[in-house]
Amino acid sequence: MNKKSAEPRVQEQLCRDVERVLFSADEIQDRVRGLGKQIDERYAGKELLLIAILKGSVVFIADLMRAITIPHEVDFLATSSYGASTSSTGIVRILKDLNEPIGGRHALLVEDIIDSGHTLAYLTRLFSARNPASLEVVTLLDKPSRREVEIDLFWTGFSVPDEFVIGYGLDFNQKYRNLPYIGVLKSEVYQPGSE
Ligand code: PRP
Repeated sequence: MNKKSAEPRVQEQLCRDVERVLFSADEIQDRVRGLGKQIDERYAGKELLLIAILKGSVVFIADLMRAITIPHEVDFLATSSYGASTSSTGIVRILKDLNEPIGGRHALLVEDIIDSGHTLAYLTRLFSARNPASLEVVTLLDKPSRREVEIDLFWTGFSVPDEFVIGYGLDFNQKYRNLPYIGVLKSEVYQPGSE
């Protein structure tokens, strides 16, 4: 194979709208495996239900569920809070509720990122009222500098600075979710004229 054809893989096909890579695909896989092991230990012998908050967590849960070796089920909930804006409105809409009741089950909410905390604050209130045996949260990314409401996070993959992050499920205007790494979006993409 000549050098030219190998180049895109070496550079992880760095998208031209990415300012820099924060976490490579390999770093993410290592961290997800670590989280899977911790979840295995905590929920051994329990009826675990993973609840993915769509759409951002779809890539994370796909890898996380394969890193978990104990038997478990998955369900999906769709919310919307951001629209086409880059900051949270604090208003959470349920676009699709869970398929199954969670009463008496050990529910683990799976998020891609916690920013203001409004989405999870709302969802933990909503799900607590359904009487699960336990309710905890795992997020791949945490942006603590943006927090507006307190959240009890059980597991966090990585802490991120207050920058616009994309890839591995995270989007801007529904794009970039397919990047295999997590990167910072160039500001001129979401603030045209800022370059
Ligand atoms: C993102 C993310 C979280 C939420 C976090 O979802 O997936 O659910 O925002 O923000 P918060 O802590 O400020 O509430 P978004 O509404 O962008 O939808 P998406 O997952 O479909 O991209």
